[in-house]
Amino acid sequence: MNNLQTLVTRRAFLYTLLTMPPAMFLAACAQQVQPTAVPTHAAQPTSVPPPATPPTAIPSANPSQPTPTPVAQLEPTPACGDDDDDPTPAQTEGPYYTPGNPERTSFLEPGVTGTKMLVSGLVLNTNCEPIARALVDFWHCDDAGVYDNVGFKWRGHQFTDEQGRYHLETIQPGIYPGRTRHIHVKVQAPNKPVLTTQLYFSNEPRNANDGIYRPELEMTVTDNADNSKNGAFNFVLNV
Ligand SMILES: [Fe+2]
Repeated sequence: MNNLQTLVTRRAFLYTLLTMPPAMFLAACAQQVQPTAVPTHAAQPTSVPPPATPPTAIPSANPSQPTPTPVAQLEPTPACGDDDDDPTPAQTEGPYYTPGNPERTSFLEPGVTGTKMLVSGLVLNTNCEPIARALVDFWHCDDAGVYDNVGFKWRGHQFTDEQGRYHLETIQPGIYPGRTRHIHVKVQAPNKPVLTTQLYFSNEPRNANDGIYRPELEMTVTDNADNSKNGAFNFVLNV
């Protein structure tokens, strides 16, 4: 390329720049300083987590706020007062427990004698919540105050239902020397320690003369028109 050709080419280039519209010139410069290596996905709206929803299920601590309505199909949570959410106290097992007893909710068999009784209630934790599938293992003496230490009369275990309920059809046990009327029981939440204790009868005169008796372990006993009885007691396990 000779000098004349070079001069013409440079003039043509300068002329092009001078005649270029300002916007196009600026755009060309802006394109050159764009940070092409910066990832753009982090700023995409789709990667931004959605805003948190209000915690509608958490009960309000403000007493002026309305409390959430319980789910209709659930049993209402049992009411626990100041005293009845304390753990049920343990008591001695005594000498007459027989392991390996049958699973059943009735000890009644043909030919049994005694006052029929329905013992029922709940197994709860210390938050007053029902414990499903808790083991409840009862044993007591017969109407004459004698334990069956050979077979399984007046012995058996069961598991609470999904609402933590148990019930046992049996008789009111008799009384043997040195003790007031009582029912032995073991209660165990799944995979938790066993509570061994005894239940007593309200309005039983001999309660006052039994050193093992404790009023916290009294069933509420009521009489039915057919001379049978009901005994109500809720166990509270320390879980
Ligand atoms: Fe006993």
